[in-house]
Amino acid sequence: MAYSDISRSISELIESHGIPKREVYLDNENSGQIIPEALKAMEDAYRWSGRGHPSITHLMGWISYQALYEATLRITSAINCSPEEIIYTHSGTEANNLAITGSALSSPNKRKILVSSIEHLSVVFPAERLEKQGFKVIKIPVNKDGFVNLDFISKHVDRETLIVSVAVVNHEIGTIQDVEAVRDTVRDKNKDVLIHTDACDALGKIPLDMKKLDVDLASFSSHKIYGPKGVGALYVKEGVRLEPIIHGQLSTQKLWPGVENVPGIIGFSKAVEYMHNNFKENVLRMIKLRDRLINGILERVDHAMLNGPFGEKRAPDNVNISFLYCEGEALTVELSLNGIYVSSGSACTSRVLEPSHVLLAIGRRHEEAHGSLLMKVTPFHVLEDIEYVLDVLPDAVKRLRSISPVKPLKQVR
Ligand SMILES: Cc1ncc(COP(=O)(O)O)c(C=O)c1O
Repeated sequence: MAYSDISRSISELIESHGIPKREVYLDNENSGQIIPEALKAMEDAYRWSGRGHPSITHLMGWISYQALYEATLRITSAINCSPEEIIYTHSGTEANNLAITGSALSSPNKRKILVSSIEHLSVVFPAERLEKQGFKVIKIPVNKDGFVNLDFISKHVDRETLIVSVAVVNHEIGTIQDVEAVRDTVRDKNKDVLIHTDACDALGKIPLDMKKLDVDLASFSSHKIYGPKGVGALYVKEGVRLEPIIHGQLSTQKLWPGVENVPGIIGFSKAVEYMHNNFKENVLRMIKLRDRLINGILERVDHAMLNGPFGEKRAPDNVNISFLYCEGEALTVELSLNGIYVSSGSACTSRVLEPSHVLLAIGRRHEEAHGSLLMKVTPFHVLEDIEYVLDVLPDAVKRLRSISPVKPLKQVR
């Protein structure tokens, strides 16, 4: 379908949908709001400090360079690393691509890559592309809660292994992985293997100290921490060598050429600073909202099951529930009509209508994966938002089940 046709049909959808009286935005996996401090700093930067090109030698260039450096210090002091270890990209996707493909280009003789079977597609796809070029890609299995199998890693890491990639927090099911244990398992077998962690969903949600984590590479995405879209970063530990995967000139950083999005990076740094300075209150608040939402849904809706672990090994914002005998996509539309915005299956593939590879990897059946909803609370939600969802969602599920051709053996409530 042509872009203009899609745009016309989307305009019609917006018009027929209308603006609901009450709105609760829970699709923070896909993107979300910007922290006001970040927005304000960006507005100022577009007018002044972020206007010039940070690599150019005139006053506006120097001012821009200084603003970029100060933004970087905000980020590095939150995650405990040095400014030279941060490479800006324009998304978490680009950071993940640079980590996987950049390391393959820098060590072409090592041809074995291990990635967990529940990684974000921006890790899985570059690995699969390398597989087509002759690399051996091994997917690390996970248990029913999404924890990687350390024995499997130990068995498969050898002298040929280039990189092992396991996310600290899984974006779909919220599993908080023991990356330090993964790191030690890998280094016990071969200390030269690179350890990459996708930390896009971890920043601001769990404590992150790069010195303590001691991985070689870690990816970040601004909009996952309530900063602007279109900014990402890759932490590259001092001494780790990567080859650039895009080429050009004029950048303060060789690994990702092209002018830095200085106003965006300033917004990102302000979001990081806000989440760092308010870490404890934010996390406690999110856990309270998360648990109210999970428990409320499981109490009120039959044939519903939580995906991912219960309790402290779950990211504080993550709620992922499968509703049997219910189509996830239809449920997102039904909820949208009531002003509740969530995503279904895998958020990142929800337009593709493929069951989430993450849910399949933890052992969910296709119909369970298709009937799943992913919701992410933020520190900016209030309890009334969650109560509103708990009022609306059970009826929405009931209505869809009443018209679904697939029914449970026992009558659904
Ligand atoms: C874990 C994880 N990695 C990578 C990405 C990609 O980040 P971006 O949207 O900035 O490309 C996301 C985005 O949702 C994510 O959740």
